[in-house]
Amino acid sequence: MQTASNSHTMTKKLCRLEFEPIGRRGEADPDQTLLDSAHQLGVDIASICGGSGTCGRCKVQILSGRVSEVTKSEEKFAVGKNKIPPFRLACQAYPADDLKIHVPAESLTSKQRTLVEGLAVAFKPVPPVTTHTVRLDQADAGEINGDADHLLELLAGKFGLKAPTIDLKILSVLSPRLMARECSFEVAVRSNEVIALGPWPRHRLGLAVDLGTTKIAVYLVDLDSGETLVSRGCMNPQISMGEDVISRLTRAARSEKEAIRLQQLALGEINRVAHELCADLDLSPENILEAVIAGNTVMHHLLLNIPVERLGLAPYSPAIKQAVDIKARDLGLKTATGAYVHFLPNIAGFVGGDHVAMLLATGIHRPAGLILALDIGTNTEICLADGEKKTSVSCASGPAFEGAHIKFGMRAGEGAIEHLRLVGDEIEFQTVGGVPPIGLCGSGILDAMAQLYLGGVLDAGGKMGDHSRVRLNDDGMSEFELIDAAGRNGQPALTVTQKDIRELQLAKGAIRSGINLLLDHTGHASEEIDKIIIAGAFGSYIDVKSAVIVGMLPALPLDRFHQVGNAAGMGARLVLASQYHRKESQALAREINYFELAAAPQFAQVFSQSMYLGHEQ
Ligand code: FES
Repeated sequence: MQTASNSHTMTKKLCRLEFEPIGRRGEADPDQTLLDSAHQLGVDIASICGGSGTCGRCKVQILSGRVSEVTKSEEKFAVGKNKIPPFRLACQAYPADDLKIHVPAESLTSKQRTLVEGLAVAFKPVPPVTTHTVRLDQADAGEINGDADHLLELLAGKFGLKAPTIDLKILSVLSPRLMARECSFEVAVRSNEVIALGPWPRHRLGLAVDLGTTKIAVYLVDLDSGETLVSRGCMNPQISMGEDVISRLTRAARSEKEAIRLQQLALGEINRVAHELCADLDLSPENILEAVIAGNTVMHHLLLNIPVERLGLAPYSPAIKQAVDIKARDLGLKTATGAYVHFLPNIAGFVGGDHVAMLLATGIHRPAGLILALDIGTNTEICLADGEKKTSVSCASGPAFEGAHIKFGMRAGEGAIEHLRLVGDEIEFQTVGGVPPIGLCGSGILDAMAQLYLGGVLDAGGKMGDHSRVRLNDDGMSEFELIDAAGRNGQPALTVTQKDIRELQLAKGAIRSGINLLLDHTGHASEEIDKIIIAGAFGSYIDVKSAVIVGMLPALPLDRFHQVGNAAGMGARLVLASQYHRKESQALAREINYFELAAAPQFAQVFSQSMYLGHEQ
C-alpha cells in the first residue's frame, strides 16, 4: 500500500470505496474521512470518540489504493506499522484514490444488545387523543359555511367539544373527500383540535421513545388499550459524532450544520424504526396519533435543535425545563397529519425527561421508605426519595462501562464477555451470544475489576500486583491476561490493563461519590436505604455483587437491590397513553430538588475517596 499527502482536497473526483468482507461499495467524497463515508454507505465502523482520533476503535486496513498520510493521532495507536497491510484509523484517513478496505470484526459495531424490556406497570389508558365518528354531507350549494365549519359545528353540537379548531392541513384532505361523496368520517381530536381524519384500521397508535445517549428504545402502543404492540431498540447514530453528551453538545455549539446533522441522525433513526414497527403491524405511520419522547436534557435539546451552549457552562441551565408539545411534522417525525409530539419536562442541565419517566414508572414519588433510584449510563442520574422530599443528582460517569477507553472494551454485542470469574488461576467467562470472545462489555468489565480485587491482584488503591497472569505490555504497563493469544486464534491476548482499571475507578468513583454526597446532602446514611432501584441496560445486566465488591454501590443486603430494566421506556408509555400520568410527570418534575454535585465543598475529597475499591467508602 502506498500513502499520499494531505493534498486530497486538490481533487474533487469521487473515489470508489469497497469495504470487505461486508461487500459494501459506493462513492465517496475525497474531503470526507473514511469513517464518515463508511457510515454514509451503511458500514457500521465503531467510533467511540466520535472521530477525534482518540479511541482507536475505527481501525481498518487499506488493501489497495492510496490514502492520506498517517496523522499524529494515528501514531499513538501504532497504526501504519506491525501489520501488512498496516492499520489506519478510518476517522483520520481520507481517500486519494479508489480503495479496497478491510474492516476487521472488532472494528464493527456488531448488533448491540439494546434494552426495551423492563418494568411493566398496569394503568388505565386516558389518551390525549379521542376519536369520533361523524356524518358529514358536502355542504349544500349556496350554503355559506365551509366544509370545516360544518365539521366543527357537528363536533361542538354532538360531542360537546368547546370551540373546536382544525389543523389547516386537514382541509386539503377534507374537501376532496367530501367531493368524492365520502360522508362518514372518523375524526381524531386533541385538546379540541381536529388533528387527523381516519380511518385507522385496527389500532390508533401512539409512539413512545426513550432517547438515550447511546441507545434508543422505540414502542408502538395502542392508545385505547394502553397495550404495547411492538417495540425495538437501536443504537443512537449520533455516536458517530461523539460518545458522550459533552462531545455532542460541543459539536452542536460549533456550527448550525453540525447541530442539524445531530438532530437528523437521531430523527432519521426514530423514523426508520417507527416505520419498521408500523410495517410489522401492517400499518403506516399515518396511524400514529400521538408521540412522546423522553430523553436526557442534551438529547432533548439536540432533537429539538434548540441552543445547547448554556448546557456546557455553569450553572448548566436548559433552554427550557417545562414539557414541550409541538406538531410532529414540524420536527420531521412521521405521524398522522396534525399529530403532536410531547417532550417530557427537564429538571436541570444534565437531568432530563428520561429521569422523570424512570421515576414515574418506578413509583419513587409515592411514599414507601427511603429509596435510591439510579439509571447508570454515560451520565448517571440518581434520585433519593424519602417519602416527602426527592432530590436528584447527575454524575459524569463517562463511557467506560460502555467499553470506551478500555483496551478491549466494547458494547454488549456478540462476542462481548458479559460475566467472568477468576477461579484460582483460571478464568471462567460467558459471552453475549455464546460466541468466541472479542472484548468486554460493561458488566464483564465490572466483574473483571471485582474479581481482580477479590483475588488480590488489585489492592484497594487499584494498583495491579503480582500474579501468574500479570505481565508488562509493550508500553511497560501492567496488564492482566484474561485470554491468551492461543485462545483467540492467534489474535493478541485479551487483557485488562492498569490504565483500564484507572478508567473504571473514575467511573465507579463518580457514581459512588454521587450516592454519598446525595446521602450527606439529605442527612441520611446508606444503611437507612430501604430499596435501591437500578434502571437501564447496563444496570440490568450487572452482577450487583460485583458492584458492591468494588464499592460502586453501598454494601447492603442483596434483597434491597431491584434491577428493573428500561424503566424510562415504561414511563414514556405511561405519559403517552394516560393524561393522568402526563400531569403527574409534570408535577414530579417540579417537585424534584436538583443538587449540583460539583458545587459541594467536599466534592473533590469524596470523589477521590470513592475511587478506592472495597466496601468501605
Ligand atoms: S479513533 Fe477513530 S473514531 Fe475514535
